[in-house]
Amino acid sequence: MSREKTSTVRWSSRLSYVLAATGAAVGLGNIWKFPYIMGENGGGAFVLVYLACILLIGIPIMMGEVMIGKFGRQTPARSARLLADASGARKGWSAVGWFGVLTGFLILSFYVVIAGWALAYTYYGFIGSFSGQDADQIAALFSDLNSEPSRLMGWSFLLLAATVLVVGNGVRDGLERAVNGMMPVLFVLLVIMVIYAYQRGNFEEAYQFMFNADFSKLSWKGVLVALGHSFFTLSLASGIMTMYGAYLPDGTSLVKTSLWIAFMDTLVAILAGLAIYPIVFGNGLEPGAGPGLIFMTLPIAFGEMPFGQLFGGLFFLMLVVAAFTSALALIESSVAWLVERHGFGRMKAALLAGGAIWVVSQLTIFSLTGASWAEFQLGSKTVTLFDGIDYLTSSIMLPLGGLMIALFVGRVVTRDISVRTLATSPLVYKVWRLCVRYIAPVAVVLVFLQQLGLFSL
Ligand code: PHE
Ligand code: NA
Repeated sequence: MSREKTSTVRWSSRLSYVLAATGAAVGLGNIWKFPYIMGENGGGAFVLVYLACILLIGIPIMMGEVMIGKFGRQTPARSARLLADASGARKGWSAVGWFGVLTGFLILSFYVVIAGWALAYTYYGFIGSFSGQDADQIAALFSDLNSEPSRLMGWSFLLLAATVLVVGNGVRDGLERAVNGMMPVLFVLLVIMVIYAYQRGNFEEAYQFMFNADFSKLSWKGVLVALGHSFFTLSLASGIMTMYGAYLPDGTSLVKTSLWIAFMDTLVAILAGLAIYPIVFGNGLEPGAGPGLIFMTLPIAFGEMPFGQLFGGLFFLMLVVAAFTSALALIESSVAWLVERHGFGRMKAALLAGGAIWVVSQLTIFSLTGASWAEFQLGSKTVTLFDGIDYLTSSIMLPLGGLMIALFVGRVVTRDISVRTLATSPLVYKVWRLCVRYIAPVAVVLVFLQQLGLFSL
């Protein structure tokens, strides 16, 4: 089996890198969360603010992360340490790297369970479980899935096992090959779903809902939601972009590819809205249904629509593909770290990382099934360990990690090195530096304080 040395591994082409990083970025955040928060926060006006956040904060931080990997050509902690060394800074800045890897590890522990839902629903869709079911019956399907630990374990295990197998086969032979094969499938499925929604749903109303820019509907809270999501959706601060950046082919522009990745991620989010909302409006369903939108609302529509069995299955298959390519990315830096640190072969490292994630994923599984040991009291509220991990990663570790990255690449790394590693025009460099030194840190601190509930808007 391949015993790859991180420093010598490269994606085989610029396109392969862009597809892999787009696969990492595109996930549940695009297909479920973005359409929903966009509707809740004023539609078109929210979209404009979100685009500005992607451009001024998300993309510059992404470039910073890729820069660390491209400079070090090692796993994130080592790369950050090499970069700190070269800049004459403290070794402690390697925290920028390992903090991200830790965040990614924790995110994956619940991501596989949620992706397991999608896998279960793909099966339900294709065997016709939604056909002719009313809202209560569809809700029962969902609660049945979440009432039995062995059921959740089974679906999430399948997903995790597939993740381990692919990543265990190496970066080029496993990861790259799988993602290069799956991303076109994802795009085709998405286009098929948009066409289906256009023909069978209420496209006009969905279009109004999504693109009517009414700024009076946008609150400051909505602005912060846009900012926070721009971060999550690009998979920043989770070790991914630094790890994938370490495999960047020589001579590939880090700036141009980052722009492509962010563009594709945004495109998928918007197309997902155009696939979901026409069906929601066309069937008189509730657009602001939140977490239930995809798993409890949409299946009702598929159960009633012509060819709903086929397209319901395809919709969830699309979700599985999107989540799977993110899962592959989330495990990669842990696997590469085990290889680098302990000299294991890739498959052994992948099995170990997968095993560890499997253990931690039980916390989420038992939270969902309502086991009493997985719940605790927080003041008067009962929260689960899953809620806790979700909050810790999304609301604390991601913004904190992003802040560290912005400060590190913008203020610690010497200008010389960042000019050389970014390798772009003086004007683009200037804008990038302004963003990572000033705009991003201020914005991230604001989101952070808001998420901690230190001020309410
Ligand atoms: N970007 C992914 C999405 O949009 C979520 C994610 C965040 C995945 C961080 C990996 C790491 O669903
Ligand atoms: Na995303």
